[in-house]
Amino acid sequence: MKKRLFTPGPTPVPENVMLRMAEPIIHHRNPEFREILERVHENLRYLFQTTRPAVVLSASGTGGMEAAITSCFRKGDKLITVNGGKFGERWGKLARTFTGNCVEETVEWGKAIQPERIVELLRKHPDARGVCLTHSETSTGTATDIRAISALVHEHSDALILVDGITAVGAHEFRFDDWGVDICITGSQKGLMMPPGLALVTVSERAQDIIEQNDAPQFYLSLKKALDSHEKNDTPFTPAVSLVIGLDESLRMIREEGLTNVWRRHERLAAACREGCEALGMQLFSDSPSFAVTTVWLPENVDWDAFNASLKHNNGITVAAGQDEYKGRIFRISHLGYYDELDMLTVIGGIERSLKEVGYEFEAGTGVAALQRALLET
Ligand SMILES: Cc1ncc(COP(=O)(O)O)c(C=O)c1O
Repeated sequence: MKKRLFTPGPTPVPENVMLRMAEPIIHHRNPEFREILERVHENLRYLFQTTRPAVVLSASGTGGMEAAITSCFRKGDKLITVNGGKFGERWGKLARTFTGNCVEETVEWGKAIQPERIVELLRKHPDARGVCLTHSETSTGTATDIRAISALVHEHSDALILVDGITAVGAHEFRFDDWGVDICITGSQKGLMMPPGLALVTVSERAQDIIEQNDAPQFYLSLKKALDSHEKNDTPFTPAVSLVIGLDESLRMIREEGLTNVWRRHERLAAACREGCEALGMQLFSDSPSFAVTTVWLPENVDWDAFNASLKHNNGITVAAGQDEYKGRIFRISHLGYYDELDMLTVIGGIERSLKEVGYEFEAGTGVAALQRALLET
């Protein structure tokens, strides 16, 4: 049976990326690798829409988040974080671990923080040194308006704006320079269509000034070290050579398709996926749906374990379960990265088959028809 991965990270890896990664290993200090790294750096600037450096860390996305916190801040620095799901919660955990001074704003799962609320928080905490946001909250499938929040933060404070773009970059419009973001992080196993193992971090000029002067303890995940090496198209430590080579290929694909087309494709697939799900009587979980992942309530009386087992074992489909209190109540369908229209027909078709198998009543083909219509009409 074919395996069909519909999780928002890891995401499917294109064959040509896999083939590049299967090439014989090369040494990371020779000119051949430096040339690749230089091209990767250039294409990452395109991906983040910036003229600033974007560094490649051999770590998962969380490593990039930790690098940002430990490089920009020191003990006692006050950080505002927004917890509307597992990954916003992670900003809070990192802030508490490294600065010990975190103002955590809790938002109901499935809702995005309103930009004005950030202004209220900044008024209450004028000494905040950073605002940590999640562009696409993967645990709930919710997108936050980074552009609007960033503008307001600049208007009301000097706090750095840190964006977890781990499931947003490559799915949602994101403009690092124009929006005035200070740090943005993404991970290789998401919109970049790669296996896990790399964190990509871009840094504004004012963040770099702060990083240069920060004397907080740091070593492997030091953005100062990474930025110093970046200037020479180098990395401070042995990079994950094969992953960097794969990234060279996946960034080439994104450039070839064109970033705006990549964003549009995600928006279309997300909209069509939502239509398909709703036609099957499944309610959307999020008020502000992400273009990377669609989160829906499991229909009443459908047992998650039986449904998921049927998807996996009878249809070869892996979707993502709900987390924490939503385990068994919601599930998440990815359209992040290497997906096209027929993939969406496949996943909704598979969901229909498994829903039938566990006894949920609906007319077969309803979801697929709605999805197909949505795709054909746009
Ligand atoms: C929005 C978001 N932030 C952070 C992370 C953590 O990244 P990683 O698991 O690569 O450390 C993830 C991973 O799923 C994510 O989706």
